[in-house]
Amino acid sequence: MGFWGCVFVLLSLSAPVHSQSQKLSEDQPAMKAILENIKPKAPTHWSSGADCCTWGDVTCENGKVVTIMIKDQHLSGSLRPDINKLTSLLRLHIMRNNLTGPFPILQGLAELEEIYANQNNFTYFPVDDFFSGLDSLQEFHVDYNPFQAWQIPDSTKFASKLTSFTAGDANISGKIPEFFDSNNMPSLVTLELAYNNLEGELPASFSGSGIPVPFVEQQQ
Ligand SMILES: *[C@@H]1O[C@H](CO)[C@@H](O)[C@H](O)[C@H]1NC(C)=O
Ligand SMILES: *[C@@H]1O[C@H](CO)[C@@H](O)[C@H](O)[C@H]1NC(C)=O
Ligand SMILES: *[C@@H]1O[C@H](CO)[C@@H](O)[C@H](O)[C@H]1NC(C)=O
Repeated sequence: MGFWGCVFVLLSLSAPVHSQSQKLSEDQPAMKAILENIKPKAPTHWSSGADCCTWGDVTCENGKVVTIMIKDQHLSGSLRPDINKLTSLLRLHIMRNNLTGPFPILQGLAELEEIYANQNNFTYFPVDDFFSGLDSLQEFHVDYNPFQAWQIPDSTKFASKLTSFTAGDANISGKIPEFFDSNNMPSLVTLELAYNNLEGELPASFSGSGIPVPFVEQQQ
């Protein structure tokens, strides 16, 4: 075989190896959709041309996104529902930006431990089943968002590993449910609900021998 024959063989041998090493994260399509909707400015070092596992403030394990830590970046635009396709996501930190539109449904993210989304411009909280399947959730923070009125959903009781639930100044109405107690949520230490439109009585579950007693700041 002549020179060009050799070149051909080399090229056809190296091509598959090359594409293997360039294999993109299986979360690439979801991350790309998320990136396209955060505008006009993208998070620092996010580029749809590169593997999302190399983006700034994103970490992966086994090619799957596990943390997104894009707080304090003056981001606006919306957060795509595609975020619920990131099935290995552990930590979502997006606080102190200007993200707007509906808060994404994160249902089924069974690994997710932390949601820090406080101080944004989200306009709607998707109540009903929000907490179903969020079996690992420990930190939930949505304070200071101009949501349409919403009530703390019944599905919150499924997030039995919660340590903190903070939703001050988030336009919550209705009553504080009874399930914030040491039976349902033995790890709960912080319950922060100040500056809302809550009504009714403080739940009886707040008193008594239950340890720890959650900290509640009602509206003044
Ligand atoms: C959000 O937008 C408002 C109005 O444009 C601006 O004043 C504020 O600094 C922004 N906040 C953040 C955290 O980007
Ligand atoms: C906050 O959201 C409202 C309603 O969607 C929008 O009109 C406003 O421009 C947003 N502000 C910022 C700073 O993104
Ligand atoms: C609270 O929700 C109501 C009803 O959705 C809305 O009219 C009101 O503007 C909201 N308040 C704030 C402070 O966002």
